[in-house]
Amino acid sequence: MTRLAVLISGTGTNLQAIIDASASGQLDAEVALVISSRPDAAGLQRAAAAGIQTVSLSRAVYIEPWAADQLIAEQVSAAGCDYIALAGYMRKIGPELVEAFPQRVINLHPALLPAFKGAQAIAEAYAYGVKVTGVTVHFVDAQYDTGPIIAQRAIAVPEGQGLEQLTERIHAVEHQLYPEVLQLLSQGRVEVIGKNVHIH
Ligand code: GAR
Repeated sequence: MTRLAVLISGTGTNLQAIIDASASGQLDAEVALVISSRPDAAGLQRAAAAGIQTVSLSRAVYIEPWAADQLIAEQVSAAGCDYIALAGYMRKIGPELVEAFPQRVINLHPALLPAFKGAQAIAEAYAYGVKVTGVTVHFVDAQYDTGPIIAQRAIAVPEGQGLEQLTERIHAVEHQLYPEVLQLLSQGRVEVIGKNVHIH
């Protein structure tokens, strides 16, 4: 069975969605390792509650970004993980880590890339006044939020909708889409040709 390492920094609701999809059989993959960039991330408790091995990195480790990435690479390899799924991991992944796991690092982004890259995508799209936004799942490459797109799901922003409500709707889409994409990957149905991703 496909083994996943999930990297988090915060609440971990997407981690939870992946754990739940795995438990229900919707996803034929197992979360074998959760790594957090912060020791206080609430998502670590979700992992512990599900009996998943956790590794928590501290601010000190990130003073040398490559040292942090090296630690992640070692842990992921030791746990025998096939994919690294970023789920609200708010640190940049360095090129060495991406190269060590080619087409094996996946990111979830709460906007329709290439629009609204970065850490505040939902709020920035909302402030911009977009009428359509959504969710992107993509391979991680050497730059930030630029890798080949595996899947996107769009949602309309209705007149009068507040940021809080939009944020909730984006999260609901994420919780569905991310496990679906991880399932496609674990079934070997995803092929990358240059920037284009084909689903078979
Ligand atoms: C998610 O909305 C995810 O798309 C976003 O962080 C949130 C994490 O929520 N990631 C990014 O913005 C990456 N640039 P969660 O901790 O509840 O899963």
